[in-house]
Amino acid sequence: MLRQGGFVELLLVLLGLKVQVAGGCPSDCVCYPSPMTVSCQAHNFVTIPEGIPEDSERIFLQNNQITLLLRGHFSPSMVTLWIYSNNITFIDPNTFEGFVNLEELDLGDNRYLRALAADTFQGLVKLHALYLYKCGLSSLPSGIFGGLHNLQYLYLQDNHIEFLQDDIFVDLVNLSHLFLHGNKLWSLHQNTFRGLINLDRLLMHQNQLQWVHRRAFHDLRRLTTLFLFNNSLAELQGDCLAPLGALEFLRLNGNPWGCDCKARSLWEWLRRFRGSSSSVLCEAPERMRGKDLKELRAEDFRNCSGAESLHQIKTHTFSTADRGASKSHRHPHHPSKEKGKENGAENGLHSSQPAASPGSRKSGKNCTSPKSRHRAAKPGSPGPRKSVHELQDYVPDYQHKFSFGTMPTAPPRRKGKCTRRPPVRPPSGVQQAAGCAGARASSLLAFVVALAAIIR
Ligand SMILES: *[C@@H]1O[C@H](CO)[C@@H](O)[C@H](O)[C@H]1NC(C)=O
Ligand SMILES: *[C@@H]1O[C@H](CO)[C@@H](O)[C@H](O)[C@H]1NC(C)=O
Ligand SMILES: *[C@@H]1O[C@H](CO)[C@@H](O)[C@H](O)[C@H]1NC(C)=O
Ligand SMILES: *[C@@H]1O[C@H](CO)[C@@H](O)[C@H](O)[C@H]1NC(C)=O
Ligand SMILES: *[C@@H]1O[C@H](CO)[C@@H](O)[C@H](O)[C@H]1NC(C)=O
Repeated sequence: MLRQGGFVELLLVLLGLKVQVAGGCPSDCVCYPSPMTVSCQAHNFVTIPEGIPEDSERIFLQNNQITLLLRGHFSPSMVTLWIYSNNITFIDPNTFEGFVNLEELDLGDNRYLRALAADTFQGLVKLHALYLYKCGLSSLPSGIFGGLHNLQYLYLQDNHIEFLQDDIFVDLVNLSHLFLHGNKLWSLHQNTFRGLINLDRLLMHQNQLQWVHRRAFHDLRRLTTLFLFNNSLAELQGDCLAPLGALEFLRLNGNPWGCDCKARSLWEWLRRFRGSSSSVLCEAPERMRGKDLKELRAEDFRNCSGAESLHQIKTHTFSTADRGASKSHRHPHHPSKEKGKENGAENGLHSSQPAASPGSRKSGKNCTSPKSRHRAAKPGSPGPRKSVHELQDYVPDYQHKFSFGTMPTAPPRRKGKCTRRPPVRPPSGVQQAAGCAGARASSLLAFVVALAAIIR
């Protein structure tokens, strides 16, 4: 593999010299054709180098010290731009205007970026992967992902995001991976994730989540992986997880779970869940501390009244009418909460309300109770873990940006053509640059042979 890479490199240098003679290539960069590729990584550039060929499709500028991205730096023929691990502090909102071919944009690890204009990514109709991890972002303007119908991978982890506007992801019908771990989120609202009908993985571990709306996950029918570990959740109604019909991997560990009557619906949901889940260690009440919610028995909830348990009713053989009556009894102010009606009256009611702002909470329909907002405590000394059948913690490997080595799920969907770099990859520039080119080694070889023939 390495040897092949070295060989390809050599070819590229040879070809690069040829191209330089013909079309020009920025100094200290390597260029090669079909598709036109400019490789300028790790060269201490502080600005975008001059002389990038107009028809460049792939531009590699990672590991430099570039500070600004402005209109005119790149041309709309660009398909791929890697400019991660620089020192970008400002992106002109017109930088990518009209870039209808752009498929992959890696802006990650630019810690001083901090803010983005709402129209920065406007019109990027082919964008397939967007990397914005470790960019020092504390908020996202609403509409920033508008129109990105082809986006499949969105990496927002390791920022300082505290709040996500309602419907911020609503156009992302093809999104498969949404990484939000390592932020400062503390609440999820009814429409935070609206529209994400193809989402496969949602990672939100290492946040400060305390409050989750009852319908926060309502569109996530295809979600297979949900990580909520290392948050501040004391409560999560089973109802919340009910729409997740495709879920396979769930991690809830590292939260200060309360295992009193309010935990009953989660306990019941977990009993029926067929996928793999982490431990759910109780922090309160005192007599439950250190126990795993999943291993509690019905007796542990025998003093609980029906009103506190959403699923208790189902264990009895009520008629449909009876069940409806029971439900409206439990939710006297929201009589239309049955599954079939959820998209009707209730949605209409709430879509007319103004978007929630940071710090505000809608009343009534939560998976968590309000008191947990002020309960910052994380589990102090969790009891002995019974980890035999538990899903192990996924430990992020930041050296490789984010590693999925431990994830027991199928590889992500990919588009065809020359083997695309998987969305998760090590940040070593040269080898990445060789990734796609490697597949073309044979055609390059043919080219060189032809060249040799001509020279002779
Ligand atoms: C990156 O940019 C920030 C903010 O302008 C500056 O303080 C810092 O020194 C820069 N770092 C480097 C390595 O240039
Ligand atoms: C994205 O979604 C649109 C509309 O749902 C669909 O036509 C298109 O094929 C999808 N693209 C990908 C790459 O899945
Ligand atoms: C239920 O209530 C009885 C009587 O108040 C009490 O002795 C018992 O410990 C309670 N059980 C649970 C699981 O809370
Ligand atoms: C949801 O939160 C509101 C206040 O924010 C509270 O009044 C209400 O009782 C909560 N609902 C549930 C079911 O916990
Ligand atoms: C979860 O948080 C605890 C304490 O903050 C930390 O020790 C642990 O490493 C975290 N787990 C993961 C998987 O990062």
